[in-house]
Amino acid sequence: MNRREFIKKLRIYGIENTVPNISDVNAQFIIDLLKISKTKKMLEIGTANWFSSINFWDYLETVSGHITTIDFSPKSHDEANINISEVKLENTISTILGNALDEIPKLPNEEYDFVFIDGMMRRSKDFLELCWPKTKKWGIIIIDDVIKFRHKMVGLWEYLEEQNITYNTLPIDEDDGVMMIIKE
Ligand SMILES: C[S@@+](CC[C@H](N)C(=O)[O-])C[C@H]1O[C@@H](n2cnc3c(N)ncnc32)[C@H](O)[C@@H]1O
Repeated sequence: MNRREFIKKLRIYGIENTVPNISDVNAQFIIDLLKISKTKKMLEIGTANWFSSINFWDYLETVSGHITTIDFSPKSHDEANINISEVKLENTISTILGNALDEIPKLPNEEYDFVFIDGMMRRSKDFLELCWPKTKKWGIIIIDDVIKFRHKMVGLWEYLEEQNITYNTLPIDEDDGVMMIIKE
């Protein structure tokens, strides 16, 4: 099965099993940002069944890049690893099973060009705070679902204001949008 067919298969699986995968429009937006920023090292919080990561990987492999993705659900982690081995990328992708709140601090500082935060919404502020030192200067941080679920992202906007962090809220598709932060 080629990569496109595999991605389609994961999309259908996500719909049938109500996996909250990113939309195609959102995936394309992030892939375009990866290209513009010439990202080589990416960190993702929230692997699920690996749908978003494989979309990002399509670009990352063209620049010999790398993605590290974290999820605390053993079921998601196992599904992701099965999917990764199905396309023979088990030696290339790093999947971490664990709570991102514990795992992010173990990662190297100033390592990532791009961070995609798509985990538990009420922890978005904590993920951002922990990912900040891990992101390179001028690196991009995207937080998903910030419009429809703003009310769930407790303390995020207050934190941004306290820390003087500038951001853009971008309505990406008809359903929701993302927050984009450039680390200065
Ligand atoms: C919205 S889904 C991710 C979807 C995925 N990015 C995609 O588009 O295919 C959120 C995932 O984050 C995981 N998650 C939520 N909070 C987490 C945490 N504190 N640490 C690790 N994983 C977490 C959940 O288990 C779930 O699989």
